[in-house]
This record gives sequence, structure tokens and C-alpha cells, in this order.
Amino acid sequence: MAPRKLAAGNWKMNGTLAALAEIDRLLADHPAPGCEVLICPPATLIHPMAARSQGRIAVGGQDCHAKTSGAHTGDIAAAQLRDAGSSHVILGHSERRTDHAETDEQVRAKAAAAHEAGLVAVICVGETEVQRDAGQTLDVISAQLAGSVPDGATAANTVIAYEPVWAIGTGRTPTSDQIAEVHALMRERLSARLGDGADFALLYGGSVKPGNAAEIFAIPHVNGALVGGASLKAEDFGPIIAALS
Ligand code: G3H
Repeated sequence: MAPRKLAAGNWKMNGTLAALAEIDRLLADHPAPGCEVLICPPATLIHPMAARSQGRIAVGGQDCHAKTSGAHTGDIAAAQLRDAGSSHVILGHSERRTDHAETDEQVRAKAAAAHEAGLVAVICVGETEVQRDAGQTLDVISAQLAGSVPDGATAANTVIAYEPVWAIGTGRTPTSDQIAEVHALMRERLSARLGDGADFALLYGGSVKPGNAAEIFAIPHVNGALVGGASLKAEDFGPIIAALS
């Protein structure tokens, strides 16, 4: 099985109900994309977005709790995301790792909870600029993969996104060779540990734009993108979807 192609948008903490008009524009311009399209809006928009898109795009959360229910004010359980219309959930994004001090161990527990609830976990890994400059990138990615991906991960229930922290929202991207090196490592590590590593969808994320998408998608082992800022507007996300299709 070849890895699926996935264009994923992470709206982060952006958008109110009015933003759902972008979904209408996106679907009007790209009624039959040649790849899977996923948008992960703020939790408040999951249900209305799922209702509005009528299954034509997948909708996902941006985080979930590792437990199924209980006294965890402000948190959302994986089953609740699914109940609201999600099929996916982003986990371990660097903004969660930084802003909420999330550890690999916590990300791994959340991913296991997502799998239990029937969600696809989009697990993020990536080095900081200091780590890259110190020549630690491959060690950092290996450790994050080993720590964050649960044993039950398969190509069907897990997607890995390589997002260098220094490339997020900065307009800077690694070279094609640097992306290729990390993606080849991820493929090898997943294969060695889980067996079906060749089938996992591996995304690149960090300043993906209409102008660089085609070049990024041509890199070996890149099966799609996790897009932040450029996923907010159909006029930007549409061409990225088209480049992957
Ligand atoms: O989850 C998405 C990434 O953080 C990339 O964000 O495309 O705005 O750089 P960006």
C-alpha cells in the first residue's frame, strides 16, 4: 500500500463561524481533489465545519486529553472530538510542547487515546534551531518518534508530521535535502519498529505556501503537508491541495 496523500490545515487559534465561508470557497474551487484534505479548526468550529462540509473534507481536533472523561476543566476527550465530527487529531504540535510543556510521554498517551476512540493521530515532531545548529536534528527526531508514537500505531491510524520549530510561521524552510534526510530517517525508524513504516503518510510542515508546495511535494517520502497560516484562506490552501493532487 502506498502512503496516502494528505493536505492538512491547522487553523490554530484562528477563526469564528464566519470563517466557515472559506470551506465553501475551497470546495467550490476544488470539488474533487486528488488527495485527502483535512482541516483542524479550533474546537468550537469542529461540529459546524463537519456539518458544513458533509464529509467532503475531513475535520480534526488540535489536541485531546489522554483520559476518556473526568475532572479536567478545559480539556477535550478523543471520543468527544469524534462525536463532534472529527476523524483526526493533531498531537504534540511544537506549540503544545512549548506552551503547555507537553512531553513525549504525554503525546504518546494522547495518541493511544485517540486510537482507542477511532481517530487518526497526526503526531508532530521537529527540532529547534539551536538543535539543528548543534547537529542534533536526527537524534531529536529519533527520540521524539520513539517517545511520542505508541506501540499500536499503524499506517491506518497514524500520520507523522515533521515540523522544524524554526520553520513554523517564519517564512523559512529547510532545504529539500534537509527535509529528505529527516523523512528518510522517519520512514526507516517507523519500519524498524512498527513494520509497516513504508505505508505511513509523512507530512512536512513549516511555512508551506502555494509558491513552494510543488517543490516540497517532490521530495522523496513527503506525502503531504501540515499547513498553518496558508490553510486559513481558500485562495492559499487551494493551490497547495492542487499541487499535491
Ligand atoms: O501546524 C502547522 C505548522 O505549525 C505550520 O505553520 O504553515 O504557519 O508555518 P505555518
